[in-house]
Amino acid sequence: MTLRLAVLASGRGSNLRAVLRAIDTGTLDARVVGVFSDKPRAGALDVARAAGVPARWFDPKAHPHRPGFDEAVFSAVDAVQPDLIVMAGYMRLVSEAAVLPRVGRMLNIHPSLLPAFKGLHTHAQALSAGVAVHGASVHVVTPELDGGPVVAQARVPVLDGDTPEALAARVLAREHPLLVATLQGFARGGIAWHDGALVHDGQPLTRPLQLDAHDALRPDPDPMPA
Ligand code: GRF
Repeated sequence: MTLRLAVLASGRGSNLRAVLRAIDTGTLDARVVGVFSDKPRAGALDVARAAGVPARWFDPKAHPHRPGFDEAVFSAVDAVQPDLIVMAGYMRLVSEAAVLPRVGRMLNIHPSLLPAFKGLHTHAQALSAGVAVHGASVHVVTPELDGGPVVAQARVPVLDGDTPEALAARVLAREHPLLVATLQGFARGGIAWHDGALVHDGQPLTRPLQLDAHDALRPDPDPMPA
């Protein structure tokens, strides 16, 4: 089944570009049916338009309260009838009223190995914590910020002398294949949301899948201590 994707983005749109490229090259059986942003000049809107994908900006100032803004955004999202809604660098909190009816159909990519380093400035957080391994996660969006069940992760080493920028670039390079591989999993049916929980190959997914060196997702060969 060709997966219909709606993408929410606030920034440059490199994750969106990676998804579109994977679709173009036939790696991912999906179609981006709409891109939605809260920032008028988000690069993601240009990436979408260049690919012929309908792209819309919603002005947060037009809606003084978050639920009203979310209602406007998500009614447009619903109108394109997505199978999955992908938050790829969407930098706005989403109200519980918008999240709850969509739990299991909405994913977010977050630049840390959740549950570590939720929120903003994750690379600086990782450097000040002194961790040796950092990375990115794709998780199911729930009302708790960056707190939903994690589908898959990519681990990235922290190197001596890393700056937040250097580390961010190393993580971003793995975010792209991580997001594509996760969406492939949903498109092929190997990953699913069933009865309120994640399922992988018919079994409950108890630990995030890990992106391997060949950009494939595998059960975790080496779980990190909690
Ligand atoms: C990524 O690092 C993503 O994990 C974070 O915001 C960034 C978006 O980058 N949530 P891009 O707009 O996809 O280039």
